[in-house]
Amino acid sequence: MSLPSKVKLVDVGPRDGLQNEKQPVPASIKIELVHRLQDAGLKEIEVTSFVSPKWVPQMADNAQVMAGITRRPDVRYSVLTPNLQGFEAALQSQPDEIVVFGAASELFSQRNINCSIAQSIERFAPVVAAARAANIYVRGAISCAVACPYEGDIAPERVELVARLMKAIGVQHVGVADTIGVATPIKTQRAMQAALKHFDLNDVSGHFHDTYGQALVNTLTCLHMGVWQFDTSIAGLGGCPYAKGATGNVATEDVVYMLHGMGIETGIDLDKLVDAGQFISDFLQRKPNSRAATALLAKRA
Ligand code: HMG
Ligand code: MG
Repeated sequence: MSLPSKVKLVDVGPRDGLQNEKQPVPASIKIELVHRLQDAGLKEIEVTSFVSPKWVPQMADNAQVMAGITRRPDVRYSVLTPNLQGFEAALQSQPDEIVVFGAASELFSQRNINCSIAQSIERFAPVVAAARAANIYVRGAISCAVACPYEGDIAPERVELVARLMKAIGVQHVGVADTIGVATPIKTQRAMQAALKHFDLNDVSGHFHDTYGQALVNTLTCLHMGVWQFDTSIAGLGGCPYAKGATGNVATEDVVYMLHGMGIETGIDLDKLVDAGQFISDFLQRKPNSRAATALLAKRA
């Protein structure tokens, strides 16, 4: 399989990145971050989630953030919706895309969304139907596609099962997620192959957390399979509140640096991206969790 010539990155920093922050991040900062990401050339941004504010307080300002964004016609704004209540709330904000998020692990499903895998599919079905009726694109996330913080290793057959169930209810795209960032290339390949049994190559993406520093090589593995869509997080922000110890997604800056170095187009301006990463890192009073950003900032100085 030849490498793709273009790659689409979805920056999930405002959602996956910030959801786990203990300190309050004002809506104005989140909005500014989204603006900076679109200025840097991102064509899809995962802005927020319509989940319970008791479970994830940082996302309680979802509607305010969505309302504050100056939208561009060529950028897609996606949001997480775990159930009909979340979808109905999200609808007011007119997202271009919604994400239903399930898991290949029973225990993670319970801890994250308080229901079994089978129940989650039952909850997603009316959400997917309503979204598609409203012409909103539906992505599904499959968490713990390689391993679970509570169950350990997850067999590819379980990814295949969730992919099949999501396909059956009308989900249009699935993201294969290494929630805790423990995956290595061959395991990643097997998880991706499992999703590809039910979804076309154009309808899958990789979502790799970078806890063990494997996310770039896992991304490369998927590129060699022809996968051309990935979720990444500005400045490597983030982690899931229900996956203790797991760090953020692979930094967008690092993936862009790798792709451009391979001659693969992203449409992203790396310098502006580094500025966006520095903006949010300054607010959070830490350094960007990106080797490429650190190197480029050092070079500027
Ligand atoms: P539940 O408690 O089972 O829901 O939570 P319920 O229907 O029984 O309702 C209980 C209460 O929650 C009620 O409020 C509802 O109104 C409220 P009360 O009457 O007690 O005041 N409620 C809601 N409020 C706002 N928005 C909603 C909503 N639904 C119910 N949509 C629920 C089920 C899914 C809501 C809950 O478990 C939850 O919010 N979980 C948070 C999950 C989450 O956000 N996790 C992080 C994102 S996933 C992730 O990071 C992984 C990913 O990045 C991929 C990867 O890396 O693996 C995507
Ligand atoms: Mg995630």
